[in-house]
Amino acid sequence: MNSLDGAVWSSGVRRGADGALVVAGVDVREIAATYGTPAYVLDEADFRARARVFREAFREAFAAIGAQTDVYYAGKAFLSVAVARWAHEEGLRVDTATGGELAVALRAGVPAGDIGMHGNNKSDAELTRALDAGVGRTIVDSLTEIARLADAVRARADGRRAPVMVRVTTGVHAGGHEYIATAHEDQKFGLSIAGGQAVVGLRAVLARPELELLGVHSHIGSQILDTEGFIEAARKLLRLRADLVAQTGHLLGEVDLGGGYGIAYLPGEVPLEPGRVAKDLAGVVREVCDALGTPVPRISIEPGRAIVGPTTLTLYEVGTVKPVAVDGPPPFVRTYVSVDGGMSDNLRPALYGARYTAVLASRTGARESVQARVVGKHCESGDIVVHDVLLPADVTRGDLLAVPATGAYGRSMASNYNHVPRPPVLAVRDGVVRVLVRRETEADLLSLDQG
Ligand code: LLP
Repeated sequence: MNSLDGAVWSSGVRRGADGALVVAGVDVREIAATYGTPAYVLDEADFRARARVFREAFREAFAAIGAQTDVYYAGKAFLSVAVARWAHEEGLRVDTATGGELAVALRAGVPAGDIGMHGNNKSDAELTRALDAGVGRTIVDSLTEIARLADAVRARADGRRAPVMVRVTTGVHAGGHEYIATAHEDQKFGLSIAGGQAVVGLRAVLARPELELLGVHSHIGSQILDTEGFIEAARKLLRLRADLVAQTGHLLGEVDLGGGYGIAYLPGEVPLEPGRVAKDLAGVVREVCDALGTPVPRISIEPGRAIVGPTTLTLYEVGTVKPVAVDGPPPFVRTYVSVDGGMSDNLRPALYGARYTAVLASRTGARESVQARVVGKHCESGDIVVHDVLLPADVTRGDLLAVPATGAYGRSMASNYNHVPRPPVLAVRDGVVRVLVRRETEADLLSLDQG
């Protein structure tokens, strides 16, 4: 109950001498006193280490088969200027999904050539912005976008071509504990290989001199905990690549396998290990390319969650504690522990039924435990932060709770529901706290309201 599972918490988190949580040398009580709660607390060294693990695991595994690799940090999981800079300093590139994310990556000083631009419905302004900046690759998602981008390049008449990847769907969909090997074609992203649109898209890019065809891209899902889906997708992409050679003589230089690497949210869960995936994938790429008689391509991946998710905990203050009799069977008492945030700072439990854990963070607490549910302050009974967790029986108003693994899709999907200002993102490193994103204020929210 008071112990910290190493797979769930960032590497810099431990319990201090008097039982309170310490993040990279800073006591969470000090963080709460200085910056208030709720707050996202991000362990910078842990972020950098995870970025390096991905970069090195893929570099090493693919160097062994003679292939080069690029790791793009998927900014949708969480992007701020500092985080984009750290990712780049650690040798990663940055994947963006909107003009807004692109703006952050550029503000961070990430060279445009190291930025990828995604989106199934990019606006004209977003395409223009990507061209203005000179992004290293635009991942095109439809036949109309291919034509729009080529037209936009032509209109600029500056002699530059736009480097593109074509996003395709492999029919492989993986994520969570669900793995459906076929027929996930009924969705908005990409061009279907099985339906023939993928080849049509690739040929359409080749037909436009304004575009430089770099390769194909596929993303099969998120929070994936086994390697089979990635392997199946890689096989399909490599076969598509060989088909294109047969049809046009053009050999695609690069294959992007997307993101989706799963992490541990609950004690006992086993995250996907980057080193293992990299080795398995490299083996399959070598084998399939040999069988098809094609050279190995450059490989890229786009992990988001696995780099930033485990780096961050959300720090809350406990308010109302309410025992509620539950019918059962068997009947029992559930202790509802309300905290000062909720679905506005972590939408994932409400949106996906995602499960988290929590610990009492400001002290260790009693040995006896209660069956608790951590809930937020919003006007909605689905406003649950942690469905089921054992907390010390003496948990009380004013205590601090910490919820681990909230770094991915926490702040990035946060809202102002009920006019609740969004929490700050605080980076801790070597005993020093730095505000990456300041707390929103009521004044911020009111300033949008024109009366
Ligand atoms: N690349 C592409 C093209 C993607 O669409 C995504 C995620 C990623 C990379 C990064 O995936 P990751 O490594 O973070 O799993 N909001 C959901 C996750 C949505 C993921 C969407 N695309 C959640 O909170 O679970």
